[in-house]
Amino acid sequence: MSKRVGILTGGGDCPGLNAVLRAAVVKGMRQYNFKFIGIKNGWAGLLDFEWSNLDRDSISGIIHRGGTILGTSRTNPVKNPEVKSLVLENYKKLRLDALIAIGGDDTLGAGLELWKSGMNIVAVPKTIDNDVDGTDYTFGFDTAVQIATEAIDRLHTTAESHNRIMIVEVMGRHAGWIATYSGIAGGADIVLIPEVPFNLDDIVQLINARRERGRSFSIVVIAEGACPEGKKDAYLKSDKVDDFGHVQLGGVGVALARDLEKMTGVDCRTTILGHVQRGGTPTAFDRVLATRFGICAIDMVHKEQWGQMAALRGTQVIPVPLEECVHKNRQVPPEFYEVAKVFFG
Ligand code: F6P
Repeated sequence: MSKRVGILTGGGDCPGLNAVLRAAVVKGMRQYNFKFIGIKNGWAGLLDFEWSNLDRDSISGIIHRGGTILGTSRTNPVKNPEVKSLVLENYKKLRLDALIAIGGDDTLGAGLELWKSGMNIVAVPKTIDNDVDGTDYTFGFDTAVQIATEAIDRLHTTAESHNRIMIVEVMGRHAGWIATYSGIAGGADIVLIPEVPFNLDDIVQLINARRERGRSFSIVVIAEGACPEGKKDAYLKSDKVDDFGHVQLGGVGVALARDLEKMTGVDCRTTILGHVQRGGTPTAFDRVLATRFGICAIDMVHKEQWGQMAALRGTQVIPVPLEECVHKNRQVPPEFYEVAKVFFG
């Protein structure tokens, strides 16, 4: 039976979003004769009633494009009862049979609540941070790791020439996946992640040990959410809070450089990779994963498997209950961080 399917992308953008849209629309139109409505700017589009029809033309030539052709926002559709009932009302006004919500923990958490309130939601996880629970990987992560690794490779040669400590601050609010992966791949001398508070004296010891071995430079990769022991909250770039209550992180790399320069007497520099990690063309891995998620999502719509999320488990992409995946953060397991630690110092 033909269905009217809405799709939205919420939260921070991420390479691979367009590949999900393309896959869902192509399979949905070809195989199931579905009609597609693209909701603009995440949940904001359902509040402002901003949408457009999506067809084969609108999704043509986008698989290699970063960002999202639908736009995105951090609007919370369940922040209060008035907002939530407007979203439910507009969902009905649009005569949608289903809504595919593509997003990170915030978007998916809101999706879960709206499903419980009667909307036919299926979900697709995305985030460069790779911290959505229930799936082995999210698309966007591989691209971010690639960009961070390339930056570390480049920083190596300048660190070596100047005998400096180079600190690379990467994204990773609650989980250090990007830092750990890019740190291992880029041959970092120290990797610091939110899961494990760091000790400045230990870092100085590692750097000094390297210097004694004749290694006059060091590369330290640090996730934006990492914290020194004893500090309760992560470093903030701004205390402006978004609709989901998140502050903007940033600054730990600069603080670390200041401390290490003082404690070691070695010249330090910090590079903050920031949104460069989220922009641009997705890797082939992310395009394929995003495509598989889009196809799984449209099959879930066909089978009316509401309240489920597409997830990668091993090599399979399967539907899993959304309820089991949200409001948690999938963190780097200690045994995986141990792999990076083998190369410290
Ligand atoms: O959630 C993904 C993420 O890239 C985080 O790593 C980072 O803290 C945040 O988004 C930055 O978001 P914004 O685009 O709002 O600055």
